This record gives sequence, structure tokens and C-alpha cells, in this order.
Amino acid sequence: MHPQVALLLTLVLLLAAGDGGLVVGTLPAIITRTCVDVGRGGQVGYDSCVEALSADSAAASAKDARELAVVATNLTVANVTSTVLVLDDLVKNLGECLRYYRDMNKTLEGVVGDLRAGRLKAASQKLLDATEAPSSCDMLLFEGSAEKNPMSKENNDAEWHMRLLACRRRILGTDVKFNSWSHATY
Ligand SMILES: *[C@@H]1O[C@H](CO)[C@@H](O)[C@H](O)[C@H]1NC(C)=O
Ligand SMILES: *[C@@H]1O[C@H](CO)[C@@H](O)[C@H](O)[C@H]1NC(C)=O
Ligand SMILES: *[C@@H]1O[C@H](CO)[C@@H](O)[C@H](O)[C@H]1NC(C)=O
Repeated sequence: MHPQVALLLTLVLLLAAGDGGLVVGTLPAIITRTCVDVGRGGQVGYDSCVEALSADSAAASAKDARELAVVATNLTVANVTSTVLVLDDLVKNLGECLRYYRDMNKTLEGVVGDLRAGRLKAASQKLLDATEAPSSCDMLLFEGSAEKNPMSKENNDAEWHMRLLACRRRILGTDVKFNSWSHATY
């Protein structure tokens, strides 16, 4: 066997055995050993373990497994903190969206009443008032720090339905302009 291949094989076998004295590259032994252990668990791969721990300068100076565990816990706290911020932002903005849509629903109820009673002008005006909800909700989520829009399908659907009504606006016998949809493709 070629000596270099043999050496490589030995290194790999040592790594797999979790030998604490082994240092690969510039990685502290404590990181490689811990990550070999972690990797063996099968939940987190060796590479992602090394990547996560070596990104933190505190991990490089960790003296033992307990200090490394503190670092790993700190990393988790940072991650959870970011998740909490994302959820905070989403909950706040989704709460606003809920308010928009409840108002829209109420307004549309009024439109039905107006149409049945033949109050076409009032119906048109109410329809106009009701057009904002989907785009306002989209805008809030778009600008939100969470940078997620779990409502985009529903907002698109609502816009589509309102556009359908806009196309039928002549049925109402008025010339209401749905300015906010000037960009829409009919
Ligand atoms: C863990 O986080 C705390 C609070 O941010 C910090 O004071 C401490 O130095 C960190 N420890 C390590 C090992 O990263
Ligand atoms: C949280 O953990 C994931 C997976 O390791 C990582 O991709 C992400 O960047 C982390 N986020 C923060 C804010 O630390
Ligand atoms: C929306 O309005 C309808 C009546 O037009 C009502 O039956 C329904 O419960 C309302 N939905 C919500 C969520 O308020």
C-alpha cells in the first residue's frame, strides 16, 4: 500500500474512533472529537457540526467538552432568538392582515345589502373601500423583518376576486375607477 494512502486511511480510522489527540488542519481537537461523536449520532453531520462550531471564536478556545457545550448552547440561543423575532413579526403583521380582512368582509356584507336594495352608488363606493385589504396585507408582510409571506396565495385569490368585480363594475351602472389595480393584467 502506498504510504500516503496508508496514512490517510489511518487518519480516517482514528477520526472515526474519536481519538482526542488528533488534530485535523487548524481545528482544535476538542471540536473534531466532539463533531465525530455528534456525527456518529446521525442527527447532525460531521461537516455541519464543524462548520457551526468553528464559526464561533469561543469554540476555538474551548478547553473541554463542557465549554464546547456552553458555546453550542449559546449558538442555539442565538438561533432561537432569531426564530422568536421572526414569529413576533409574523404574528404582529398577520394580526393586522386579519383586521384588514375582517373589515373587508364586513364591507362586502354591506355591498350585498346595498345591491339587493338597489343602492348601486353606495355599493360601488363600498367596493372601492374593500379593495385595499389584499395589497395592504401583502405590503405589510413584504416589508416585515420576517421576510415571509404565508398569505400570498390568499391575497392573490382575494385580488383576483376583486378584479373580477371590477370588470363587472358597469353592471353597477357607475363609472367607479379601480385605480389601485391600474397595474393589473385583466
Ligand atoms: C455565551 O453567551 C453569553 C451571553 O451572550 C456570553 O456572556 C458568554 O461569553 C458566551 N459564552 C461562550 C462560551 O460563547
Ligand atoms: C440558525 O441555524 C441554522 C442551521 O444551523 C443556520 O442556517 C442559521 O443561519 C441560524 N440562524 C441564526 C440567526 O443564527
Ligand atoms: C363574513 O361575512 C359573512 C356574511 O356576509 C359571515 O357569514 C361570515 O361569518 C363573516 N366572516 C367573518 C370571518 O367574519
